[in-house]
Amino acid sequence: MLPSFVIFFQTLRFKMSSSSNLSLIPSGVRGMKRLDREKFLRNITVPILKVPDEKLSTVISICKPYFLKLQKFKPVQNLLVKPSEKLYKCIYFDPEKITKWHNFSEDDRKNLQECDIDENNFDLQEIQVTYDNFKHDTIFKAVLPENEETISGFSQIGHIIHLNLRDHLLEYRSLVGEVLVDKIQNCRTVIHKTGIIDNTYRNFKMEVIAGDEDFLVTVKESRCIFQFDFSKVYWNPRLSREHERILELLSPGDVLFDIFCGVGPFAIPAAKQKCKVFANDLNPESYKWLNHNAQQNKVNMNLFKSYNLDGKDFICTTFKTFVTNYYNGKETLKKGAKIHITMNLPELAVQFLKYFKGLIKDTQLNDKYDCDIFVYVYCFSVGEDPYAIAKQMVNDNIGKDISSNIVDVFDVRNVSPKKEMMRVTFKLTKEIIFDNNSDETEEPPCKKQCSNDKDT
Ligand SMILES: C[S@@+](CC[C@H](N)C(=O)[O-])C[C@H]1O[C@@H](n2cnc3c(N)ncnc32)[C@H](O)[C@@H]1O
Ligand SMILES: *[C@@H]1O[C@H](CO)[C@@H](O)[C@H](O)[C@H]1NC(C)=O
Ligand SMILES: *[C@@H]1O[C@H](CO)[C@@H](O)[C@H](O)[C@H]1NC(C)=O
Ligand SMILES: *[C@@H]1O[C@H](CO)[C@@H](O)[C@H](O)[C@H]1NC(C)=O
Repeated sequence: MLPSFVIFFQTLRFKMSSSSNLSLIPSGVRGMKRLDREKFLRNITVPILKVPDEKLSTVISICKPYFLKLQKFKPVQNLLVKPSEKLYKCIYFDPEKITKWHNFSEDDRKNLQECDIDENNFDLQEIQVTYDNFKHDTIFKAVLPENEETISGFSQIGHIIHLNLRDHLLEYRSLVGEVLVDKIQNCRTVIHKTGIIDNTYRNFKMEVIAGDEDFLVTVKESRCIFQFDFSKVYWNPRLSREHERILELLSPGDVLFDIFCGVGPFAIPAAKQKCKVFANDLNPESYKWLNHNAQQNKVNMNLFKSYNLDGKDFICTTFKTFVTNYYNGKETLKKGAKIHITMNLPELAVQFLKYFKGLIKDTQLNDKYDCDIFVYVYCFSVGEDPYAIAKQMVNDNIGKDISSNIVDVFDVRNVSPKKEMMRVTFKLTKEIIFDNNSDETEEPPCKKQCSNDKDT
């Protein structure tokens, strides 16, 4: 029984290179469940061309498309031809492309003959191929059931490879895992998602199918190092570009409130960019690694504060205190500085928007200071027009038509057919923060306000 761990993660697809060399693998490996590397050993006859050293570069330029391309194998090797002891090279060709001299194209044969290479230089030679000569995808094609969906891709997070195995491949999981540990650089652990758990910390259930049971990963993103226990926190390599896009919008002196910060992919680089950062996550493990990462990346602690709160409390205390002090003149910002609020919890984030509406009651503060506040809220749009759906979700949830405040709606990534992860950027204006209409008739669907309710 393999242990299972709770984990969440979206798959990054690595394009598998198109199959070649498949015919070189013994057909007896088909259906193998326990990896037996010896079974890949085979003697094969491959075509070769014997070429004098001085002709080599010309011949290579003609013949390269036909080369035998294997892992840990040189298609051009030294060959000592007796008795003259003249130095020759031996070029190995792919038997899937060449079996006879006449398999070279007419043009290529003509060009070869022009440098005195002809059928007499052509020969066959036996070589031994082993497990080491094949890439993981070729091995999977040779072993896994034919005419059925194979392994389409996987993602790598530090030393961990993560894949989603179809049911019919489950009985091959130990082989699949071992092959990936053997073949993929830096891979020490292979995990398989065993089910979807839509839990608070955004984790999925998973199982180790090969390698070490070590979930402590180190990854690099936005010129920072992130360390965390992948079995306990959220990390998605497919979001790295989106993290960078947001970071590009931040200037030194700006303020960032990262409400669902995880282990810090927005917050840590933002603080390194000299923004003042307030980072929050409800998961105690995320909070722990967030602080660890702040230290590891030598973040200036005057610019970085971390919280382990529910998003609602973070808005209604930390954010509220900050903006109140700002509007009071107690908190000063650099001229032209902006406040940014990232809300990356696509499943639920829009439901937290209502806490911004009427957040501050004291309208006296209203006119004193004014800086731009931008909210970047993420959601999943399911349907024909993901842009319209995302806008609608924001308007519905904040409880006010703020269409004119929306400055951008961006499709971050496709999650599954017809499901997009969207980002809506809007200006959080004083009309929203000081809204005094909130307890009146036109109620938002969820009518909870920071100031007047204590439940969740
Ligand atoms: C999708 S992850 C995003 C993490 C990070 N911002 C990133 O881009 O990788 C959402 C995070 O929200 C946290 N979370 C879930 N519910 C929360 C809540 N009610 N309040 C605060 N954080 C919450 C989860 O623990 C998780 O780390
Ligand atoms: C391959 O050839 C070698 C000799 O070159 C021989 O010793 C070996 O038994 C052969 N292996 C197979 C699997 O035919
Ligand atoms: C090489 O040419 C012969 C015919 O001369 C053909 O039967 C064979 O399939 C060709 N081999 C390849 C690999 O294309
Ligand atoms: C709400 O604020 C507006 C001005 O912003 C004011 O005219 C109005 O009287 C206020 N309403 C309530 C109920 O306080």
